[in-house]
Amino acid sequence: MQKHILIAPGDGIGQEVTTVGRQVLEAIAARFKHQFTFSEALIGHAAIEQTGQPLPDETLAAMRAADAILFGAVGHPRYDNDPSAKVRPEQGLLRMRKELGLYANLRPIKLFDELLGASPLRPELLRGADILFFRELTGDIYFGEKGRRPDGTAYDIATYSRPEVERIARRAFEAARTRSRRVTSVDKANVLETSRLWREVVNEVATDYPDVSLEHQFVDAAAMLLIKDPRRFDVVLTANLFGDILTDEASQIAGSMGMLASASIGDGPGVYEPIHGSGHDIAGQGVANPLASVLSAALLLDISFGMAQEANAVIAAVQAFLKAGYRTRDIAGTATSSDRVVGTFEAGRLLLEKLNESPALS
Ligand code: IPM
Ligand code: MG
Repeated sequence: MQKHILIAPGDGIGQEVTTVGRQVLEAIAARFKHQFTFSEALIGHAAIEQTGQPLPDETLAAMRAADAILFGAVGHPRYDNDPSAKVRPEQGLLRMRKELGLYANLRPIKLFDELLGASPLRPELLRGADILFFRELTGDIYFGEKGRRPDGTAYDIATYSRPEVERIARRAFEAARTRSRRVTSVDKANVLETSRLWREVVNEVATDYPDVSLEHQFVDAAAMLLIKDPRRFDVVLTANLFGDILTDEASQIAGSMGMLASASIGDGPGVYEPIHGSGHDIAGQGVANPLASVLSAALLLDISFGMAQEANAVIAAVQAFLKAGYRTRDIAGTATSSDRVVGTFEAGRLLLEKLNESPALS
Protein backbone atom coordinates (compact mmCIF):
# COMPACT_ATOMS: atom_id res chain seq x y z
CA MET A 1 0.00 0.00 0.00
CA GLN A 2 1.18 3.51 -0.74
CA LYS A 3 0.63 6.12 1.97
CA HIS A 4 1.89 9.55 2.88
CA ILE A 5 2.49 10.32 6.56
CA LEU A 6 3.03 13.81 7.86
CA ILE A 7 5.23 14.07 10.95
CA ALA A 8 4.48 17.08 13.15
CA PRO A 9 7.01 16.78 16.00
CA GLY A 10 6.08 20.09 17.69
CA ASP A 11 7.99 20.99 20.82
CA GLY A 12 10.22 19.57 23.53
CA ILE A 13 10.33 15.78 23.67
CA GLY A 14 7.88 15.70 20.73
CA GLN A 15 10.97 15.93 18.52
CA GLU A 16 12.66 12.95 20.10
CA VAL A 17 9.71 10.61 20.43
CA THR A 18 8.38 11.13 16.89
CA THR A 19 11.84 10.32 15.54
CA VAL A 20 11.42 6.84 17.02
CA GLY A 21 7.76 6.66 15.95
CA ARG A 22 8.83 7.35 12.38
CA GLN A 23 11.60 4.74 12.52
CA VAL A 24 9.03 2.16 13.52
CA LEU A 25 6.74 3.14 10.64
CA GLU A 26 9.69 2.88 8.23
CA ALA A 27 10.54 -0.56 9.57
CA ILE A 28 6.93 -1.69 9.16
CA ALA A 29 6.88 -0.42 5.56
CA ALA A 30 10.06 -2.37 4.77
CA ARG A 31 8.85 -5.51 6.44
CA PHE A 32 5.35 -5.57 5.01
CA LYS A 33 6.33 -4.14 1.63
CA HIS A 34 4.38 -0.91 1.84
CA GLN A 35 5.49 2.39 0.37
CA PHE A 36 5.30 5.02 3.09
CA THR A 37 6.50 8.52 2.25
CA PHE A 38 7.08 11.13 4.95
CA SER A 39 7.23 14.88 5.30
CA GLU A 40 7.59 17.14 8.33
CA ALA A 41 5.73 20.28 9.33
CA LEU A 42 5.99 22.90 12.05
CA ILE A 43 3.47 23.36 14.85
CA GLY A 44 3.45 24.88 18.34
CA HIS A 45 6.27 26.93 19.81
CA ALA A 46 8.63 25.74 17.08
CA ALA A 47 6.23 27.20 14.49
CA ILE A 48 5.76 30.45 16.42
CA GLU A 49 9.53 30.93 16.49
CA GLN A 50 9.85 30.53 12.74
CA THR A 51 6.59 31.95 11.38
CA GLY A 52 4.82 33.80 14.19
CA GLN A 53 1.90 31.35 13.96
CA PRO A 54 1.30 28.23 16.10
CA LEU A 55 -0.32 26.46 13.12
CA PRO A 56 1.01 27.97 9.87
CA ASP A 57 -1.28 27.66 6.81
CA GLU A 58 1.41 25.61 5.14
CA THR A 59 1.25 23.03 7.95
CA LEU A 60 -2.53 22.87 7.76
CA ALA A 61 -2.41 22.33 4.00
CA ALA A 62 0.19 19.57 4.41
CA MET A 63 -1.99 17.93 7.08
CA ARG A 64 -5.05 17.98 4.83
CA ALA A 65 -3.04 16.40 2.02
CA ALA A 66 -1.61 13.58 4.17
CA ASP A 67 -3.12 10.13 4.70
CA ALA A 68 -2.36 10.35 8.42
CA ILE A 69 -0.42 12.52 10.84
CA LEU A 70 2.02 11.45 13.55
CA PHE A 71 2.07 14.24 16.07
CA GLY A 72 4.53 14.89 18.93
CA ALA A 73 3.51 17.49 21.51
CA VAL A 74 3.19 21.24 21.82
CA GLY A 75 3.95 23.64 24.64
CA HIS A 76 6.66 25.77 26.19
CA PRO A 77 7.10 26.86 29.80
CA ARG A 78 7.54 30.46 28.66
CA TYR A 79 3.79 30.73 27.95
CA ASP A 80 2.65 28.79 31.01
CA ASN A 81 4.02 31.55 33.19
CA ASP A 82 2.69 34.35 31.03
CA PRO A 83 -1.12 34.43 31.13
CA SER A 84 -1.15 37.56 28.95
CA ALA A 85 0.54 35.90 25.93
CA LYS A 86 -1.74 36.33 22.93
CA VAL A 87 -0.13 33.68 20.76
CA ARG A 88 0.35 30.28 22.44
CA PRO A 89 1.58 26.89 21.21
CA GLU A 90 -1.62 25.15 22.37
CA GLN A 91 -3.67 27.30 19.98
CA GLY A 92 -1.98 25.40 17.16
CA LEU A 93 -3.18 22.08 18.57
CA LEU A 94 -6.73 23.29 19.18
CA ARG A 95 -7.01 24.89 15.75
CA MET A 96 -5.70 21.72 14.13
CA ARG A 97 -8.39 19.69 15.91
CA LYS A 98 -11.10 22.12 14.80
CA GLU A 99 -9.92 22.59 11.22
CA LEU A 100 -9.47 18.86 10.62
CA GLY A 101 -12.78 18.07 12.34
CA LEU A 102 -11.10 15.65 14.78
CA TYR A 103 -14.11 15.23 17.00
CA ALA A 104 -13.30 11.81 18.47
CA ASN A 105 -10.25 11.32 20.64
CA LEU A 106 -9.59 7.68 21.45
CA ARG A 107 -7.35 7.02 24.41
CA PRO A 108 -6.81 3.35 25.16
CA ILE A 109 -5.66 2.60 28.71
CA LYS A 110 -4.07 -0.79 28.73
CA LEU A 111 -1.52 -2.06 31.18
CA PHE A 112 1.29 -4.27 29.93
CA ASP A 113 1.72 -7.01 32.54
CA GLU A 114 5.45 -6.23 32.73
CA LEU A 115 4.57 -2.79 34.11
CA LEU A 116 2.21 -3.88 36.87
CA GLY A 117 4.69 -2.53 39.40
CA ALA A 118 5.11 0.85 37.66
CA SER A 119 1.74 2.15 38.72
CA PRO A 120 1.25 3.80 42.09
CA LEU A 121 -1.91 1.66 42.36
CA ARG A 122 -1.93 -1.84 43.80
CA PRO A 123 -1.28 -4.53 41.15
CA GLU A 124 -4.25 -6.64 42.22
CA LEU A 125 -6.57 -3.74 41.35
CA LEU A 126 -4.99 -3.31 37.97
CA ARG A 127 -4.32 -6.68 36.39
CA GLY A 128 -6.44 -6.95 33.27
CA ALA A 129 -7.61 -3.32 33.27
CA ASP A 130 -8.47 -2.31 29.71
CA ILE A 131 -10.36 0.92 29.12
CA LEU A 132 -11.04 2.81 25.92
CA PHE A 133 -11.85 6.48 26.36
CA PHE A 134 -13.85 8.37 23.77
CA ARG A 135 -13.19 12.00 24.54
CA GLU A 136 -15.14 14.53 22.48
CA LEU A 137 -12.51 16.87 21.03
CA THR A 138 -13.95 19.81 19.12
CA GLY A 139 -16.62 21.26 21.40
CA ASP A 140 -17.30 22.10 25.05
CA ILE A 141 -15.69 24.83 27.12
CA TYR A 142 -12.53 24.51 24.99
CA PHE A 143 -14.11 26.13 21.97
CA GLY A 144 -16.89 28.36 23.33
CA GLU A 145 -16.77 32.10 23.65
CA LYS A 146 -14.26 33.25 26.22
CA GLY A 147 -13.15 36.61 27.47
CA ARG A 148 -12.94 39.29 30.11
CA ARG A 149 -15.72 41.69 31.10
CA PRO A 150 -15.25 45.34 32.00
CA ASP A 151 -15.94 44.47 35.65
CA GLY A 152 -12.79 42.34 35.65
CA THR A 153 -14.50 38.92 35.60
CA ALA A 154 -13.58 36.23 33.09
CA TYR A 155 -15.79 33.66 31.35
CA ASP A 156 -15.54 30.50 29.23
CA ILE A 157 -18.77 29.23 27.71
CA ALA A 158 -19.41 25.50 27.31
CA THR A 159 -21.65 24.54 24.39
CA TYR A 160 -22.77 21.25 22.85
CA SER A 161 -25.17 20.62 19.99
CA ARG A 162 -27.16 17.41 19.50
CA PRO A 163 -25.21 16.33 16.40
CA GLU A 164 -21.91 16.89 18.20
CA VAL A 165 -22.95 14.54 21.00
CA GLU A 166 -24.57 12.04 18.70
CA ARG A 167 -21.59 11.45 16.41
CA ILE A 168 -19.14 10.76 19.23
CA ALA A 169 -21.70 8.61 21.06
CA ARG A 170 -22.18 6.46 17.95
CA ARG A 171 -18.42 5.95 17.66
CA ALA A 172 -18.29 4.82 21.29
CA PHE A 173 -21.20 2.38 20.94
CA GLU A 174 -19.73 0.95 17.73
CA ALA A 175 -16.40 0.39 19.50
CA ALA A 176 -18.15 -1.22 22.47
CA ARG A 177 -19.51 -3.85 20.08
CA THR A 178 -15.95 -4.94 19.32
CA ARG A 179 -15.14 -5.15 23.05
CA SER A 180 -17.16 -6.15 26.09
CA ARG A 181 -20.29 -4.20 25.12
CA ARG A 182 -20.33 -1.78 28.00
CA VAL A 183 -20.39 2.01 27.74
CA THR A 184 -20.04 4.37 30.70
CA SER A 185 -21.08 7.89 29.80
CA VAL A 186 -19.54 10.48 32.10
CA ASP A 187 -21.14 13.88 32.63
CA LYS A 188 -22.21 16.34 35.32
CA ALA A 189 -25.93 16.27 34.55
CA ASN A 190 -26.83 17.13 38.14
CA VAL A 191 -25.42 20.62 37.53
CA LEU A 192 -24.67 21.42 33.87
CA GLU A 193 -27.20 21.97 31.08
CA THR A 194 -24.71 20.77 28.44
CA SER A 195 -24.47 17.53 30.44
CA ARG A 196 -28.26 17.15 30.52
CA LEU A 197 -28.32 17.44 26.72
CA TRP A 198 -25.39 15.01 26.58
CA ARG A 199 -27.27 12.44 28.67
CA GLU A 200 -30.48 12.86 26.67
CA VAL A 201 -28.72 12.30 23.34
CA VAL A 202 -26.61 9.38 24.63
CA ASN A 203 -29.80 7.69 25.85
CA GLU A 204 -31.38 8.14 22.42
CA VAL A 205 -28.34 6.72 20.62
CA ALA A 206 -28.31 3.78 23.04
CA THR A 207 -31.70 2.61 21.75
CA ASP A 208 -29.96 1.75 18.46
CA TYR A 209 -27.54 -0.50 20.37
CA PRO A 210 -29.72 -2.75 22.54
CA ASP A 211 -26.85 -5.25 22.73
CA VAL A 212 -24.62 -2.70 24.50
CA SER A 213 -25.23 -1.84 28.15
CA LEU A 214 -25.07 1.81 29.12
CA GLU A 215 -24.50 3.39 32.52
CA HIS A 216 -24.19 7.04 33.41
CA GLN A 217 -21.74 8.34 35.99
CA PHE A 218 -21.16 11.84 37.27
CA VAL A 219 -17.61 12.96 36.62
CA ASP A 220 -16.68 13.25 40.28
CA ALA A 221 -17.82 9.69 40.97
CA ALA A 222 -16.11 8.45 37.79
CA ALA A 223 -12.83 10.01 38.95
CA MET A 224 -13.12 8.08 42.20
CA LEU A 225 -14.17 4.77 40.59
CA LEU A 226 -11.29 4.86 38.10
CA ILE A 227 -8.86 4.54 40.98
CA LYS A 228 -11.00 2.33 43.18
CA ASP A 229 -11.96 -0.25 40.58
CA PRO A 230 -10.53 0.44 37.10
CA ARG A 231 -11.65 -2.94 35.78
CA ARG A 232 -15.31 -1.99 36.02
CA PHE A 233 -14.85 0.25 32.95
CA ASP A 234 -14.80 -0.77 29.31
CA VAL A 235 -15.68 2.10 26.94
CA VAL A 236 -15.87 5.51 28.60
CA LEU A 237 -17.65 8.25 26.66
CA THR A 238 -17.20 11.82 27.80
CA ALA A 239 -16.97 15.50 26.93
CA ASN A 240 -13.81 17.40 26.06
CA LEU A 241 -12.82 18.85 29.44
CA PHE A 242 -13.83 15.83 31.53
CA GLY A 243 -11.98 13.57 29.09
CA ASP A 244 -8.85 15.69 29.32
CA ILE A 245 -8.77 15.37 33.08
CA LEU A 246 -9.88 11.75 33.42
CA THR A 247 -7.38 10.43 30.88
CA ASP A 248 -4.43 11.98 32.72
CA GLU A 249 -5.75 10.31 35.86
CA ALA A 250 -6.25 7.01 34.02
CA SER A 251 -2.70 7.11 32.66
CA GLN A 252 -1.56 5.97 36.07
CA ILE A 253 -3.44 2.72 35.52
CA ALA A 254 -1.05 2.07 32.62
CA GLY A 255 2.01 2.81 34.73
CA SER A 256 3.16 6.04 33.12
CA MET A 257 2.02 8.87 30.87
CA GLY A 258 4.95 7.79 28.72
CA MET A 259 3.03 4.68 27.67
CA LEU A 260 -0.22 6.22 26.47
CA ALA A 261 -1.10 6.72 22.85
CA SER A 262 -4.09 8.43 21.32
CA ALA A 263 -5.95 8.70 18.04
CA SER A 264 -7.92 11.77 17.02
CA ILE A 265 -10.31 11.03 14.24
CA GLY A 266 -13.01 12.73 12.28
CA ASP A 267 -13.90 12.81 8.65
CA GLY A 268 -10.43 13.59 7.26
CA PRO A 269 -6.92 12.33 8.06
CA GLY A 270 -6.42 11.10 11.61
CA VAL A 271 -3.87 12.52 14.05
CA TYR A 272 -1.94 10.14 16.30
CA GLU A 273 -0.10 11.40 19.33
CA PRO A 274 1.09 10.53 22.84
CA ILE A 275 -1.15 11.91 25.57
CA HIS A 276 1.92 13.27 27.34
CA GLY A 277 3.01 16.82 26.74
CA SER A 278 6.22 18.44 25.57
CA GLY A 279 8.12 17.57 28.78
CA HIS A 280 10.46 20.54 28.72
CA ASP A 281 12.10 19.46 31.96
CA ILE A 282 13.62 16.46 30.15
CA ALA A 283 13.64 17.70 26.53
CA GLY A 284 16.82 17.27 24.52
CA GLN A 285 18.32 14.82 27.02
CA GLY A 286 17.42 11.65 25.16
CA VAL A 287 15.65 10.15 28.17
CA ALA A 288 11.99 10.46 27.12
CA ASN A 289 9.96 7.28 26.73
CA PRO A 290 9.23 6.83 23.01
CA LEU A 291 6.67 4.06 23.57
CA ALA A 292 3.63 6.36 23.54
CA SER A 293 4.67 7.64 20.11
CA VAL A 294 5.39 4.10 18.94
CA LEU A 295 1.99 2.90 20.18
CA SER A 296 0.43 5.95 18.48
CA ALA A 297 2.05 4.76 15.25
CA ALA A 298 0.38 1.38 15.86
CA LEU A 299 -3.01 3.10 16.19
CA LEU A 300 -2.27 5.00 12.98
CA LEU A 301 -1.59 1.77 11.10
CA ASP A 302 -4.70 0.13 12.47
CA ILE A 303 -7.27 2.94 12.29
CA SER A 304 -6.19 5.10 9.34
CA PHE A 305 -4.69 2.39 7.13
CA GLY A 306 -6.68 -0.68 8.23
CA MET A 307 -3.39 -2.52 8.82
CA ALA A 308 -4.30 -4.58 11.88
CA GLN A 309 -1.53 -7.12 11.37
CA GLU A 310 1.11 -4.40 11.09
CA ALA A 311 -0.26 -2.68 14.20
CA ASN A 312 -0.11 -5.94 16.12
CA ALA A 313 3.51 -6.43 15.07
CA VAL A 314 4.33 -3.05 16.64
CA ILE A 315 2.50 -3.90 19.86
CA ALA A 316 4.24 -7.29 20.01
CA ALA A 317 7.61 -5.55 19.62
CA VAL A 318 6.79 -3.23 22.53
CA GLN A 319 5.82 -6.23 24.61
CA ALA A 320 9.02 -8.09 23.69
CA PHE A 321 11.06 -4.98 24.53
CA LEU A 322 9.47 -4.81 28.00
CA LYS A 323 9.77 -8.55 28.51
CA ALA A 324 13.46 -8.37 27.73
CA GLY A 325 13.77 -6.01 30.70
CA TYR A 326 14.39 -2.71 28.90
CA ARG A 327 12.97 0.32 30.66
CA THR A 328 13.08 4.04 30.05
CA ARG A 329 13.54 6.18 33.12
CA ASP A 330 9.83 6.87 33.73
CA ILE A 331 9.07 3.17 34.07
CA ALA A 332 12.36 2.18 35.69
CA GLY A 333 10.60 1.67 39.02
CA THR A 334 9.74 -1.82 37.80
CA ALA A 335 13.29 -2.70 36.78
CA THR A 336 14.86 -5.66 38.55
CA SER A 337 18.63 -5.95 38.83
CA SER A 338 18.77 -7.79 35.51
CA ASP A 339 16.80 -5.06 33.71
CA ARG A 340 18.39 -2.18 31.88
CA VAL A 341 17.43 1.49 31.83
CA VAL A 342 17.83 2.88 28.32
CA GLY A 343 17.49 6.27 26.63
CA THR A 344 15.04 7.30 23.91
CA PHE A 345 17.12 6.34 20.88
CA GLU A 346 18.55 3.17 22.33
CA ALA A 347 14.99 2.17 23.14
CA GLY A 348 14.19 2.85 19.47
CA ARG A 349 17.07 0.70 18.28
CA LEU A 350 16.07 -2.18 20.57
CA LEU A 351 12.44 -1.93 19.49
CA LEU A 352 13.44 -2.19 15.85
CA GLU A 353 15.49 -5.24 16.74
CA LYS A 354 12.42 -6.83 18.36
CA LEU A 355 10.29 -5.87 15.39
CA ASN A 356 12.68 -7.54 12.99
CA GLU A 357 13.18 -10.59 15.19
CA SER A 358 9.51 -11.50 15.30
CA PRO A 359 8.55 -14.30 12.91
CA ALA A 360 8.09 -13.08 9.35
CA LEU A 361 4.51 -12.20 8.56
CA SER A 362 3.01 -12.22 5.14
C1 IPM B 1 -4.32 16.97 25.74
C2 IPM B 1 -3.64 18.23 26.19
C3 IPM B 1 -4.27 19.42 25.49
C4 IPM B 1 -5.73 19.48 25.87
C5 IPM B 1 -3.56 20.78 25.79
C6 IPM B 1 -2.08 20.73 25.46
C7 IPM B 1 -4.24 21.93 25.10
O1 IPM B 1 -3.71 18.34 27.58
O2 IPM B 1 -4.28 16.69 24.51
O3 IPM B 1 -4.87 16.26 26.56
O4 IPM B 1 -6.09 20.06 26.89
O5 IPM B 1 -6.54 18.94 25.11
MG1 MG C 1 -4.54 16.67 28.56
